[in-house]
Amino acid sequence: METVLSIQGLTKNFGKLCAVNSINLEVKRGQVFGMLGPNGSGKTTTLGMLMGVVNPTAGSFSWFGQPPTHQLRKKIGAVLEHPIFYPYLSGQKNLELMAMIKEAPVSNIPKVLELVELADRKNDKYKTYSLGMKQRLAIASALLNDPIVLILDEPTNGLDPMGIAEIREIIKRIASDGKTIILASHLLDEVQKVCSHFAILRKGTLVHSGPVDDVGKGEEKVEVIAFHDDIALLLERFDGTISVKKEDQQFVVKMKEGFHSQDLNRYLFEKGIVATHLLTQKKSLEKQFLEILAEAEHAALIKN
Ligand SMILES: Nc1ncnc2c1ncn2[C@@H]1O[C@H](COP(=O)(O)OP(=O)(O)O)[C@@H](O)[C@H]1O
Ligand SMILES: [Mg+2]
Repeated sequence: METVLSIQGLTKNFGKLCAVNSINLEVKRGQVFGMLGPNGSGKTTTLGMLMGVVNPTAGSFSWFGQPPTHQLRKKIGAVLEHPIFYPYLSGQKNLELMAMIKEAPVSNIPKVLELVELADRKNDKYKTYSLGMKQRLAIASALLNDPIVLILDEPTNGLDPMGIAEIREIIKRIASDGKTIILASHLLDEVQKVCSHFAILRKGTLVHSGPVDDVGKGEEKVEVIAFHDDIALLLERFDGTISVKKEDQQFVVKMKEGFHSQDLNRYLFEKGIVATHLLTQKKSLEKQFLEILAEAEHAALIKN
């Protein structure tokens, strides 16, 4: 997989405040990469450095294996803040102006308007657009140069549920077009819904990165209810057990990696026990996100 973006030790201090603390990151071609973190965690500052509008205090990054230059930046489209469009001009006219400024082919306009589903409203004045439409026009504008990478900062902020859903669909469509997308968001479900990979930023420090699909992996917990005098002991003795906890009438078995509820079920059955309840606890991404943050906190405490 070709590396699109590689970041080494990137740091930004604002006076005494360390907004971005020596982060390392790789984004590969075709990924939809989510930078997830609460407000103030350093997402926008990081994107600003990547786009050359914020000067790094330390560290470096390369796009497509090369140090950043003005020429390279043309291969990157970005929607960082609400861009300035002319309220009394139509979406079409605004894009024509943008194309001129960016030296992008005007012939790309119909395609990008189609992509963000504004083709039928292209002749309406910008000021008549809903917030969602304005955001879509900004995305269209970022795509005018047919960039390899699209950067989006909090793309659904302030939108109603309908507007949010539309933007997310459009992001997925752009990704399926083969573009690499880097998206900053404080919304867990946004990252879960649209991203293939993600990193978690916390107070400027990168505390986790990996595929979104991997989040649910690792050890699982199985709830068991079975009426047998020695059930607690038997659960303890199971090969796949890390620990057993009693909660009301049920037991919660923390399983070793690679062991699943069906293994436990088979084991109990072989002992002549039929469980009346056997359920794998599914952790929500939110719970895991909080756990990842808690783990990072714990690791930081140990380190200090
Ligand atoms: N220009 C600036 N001057 C001083 N502090 C800043 C500036 N920009 C951002 N910060 C601070 O840096 C931290 C990270 O901000 P930001 O990158 O905007 O986070 P996020 O985008 O994750 O919400 C915050 O504490 C913010 O107040
Ligand atoms: Mg931000």
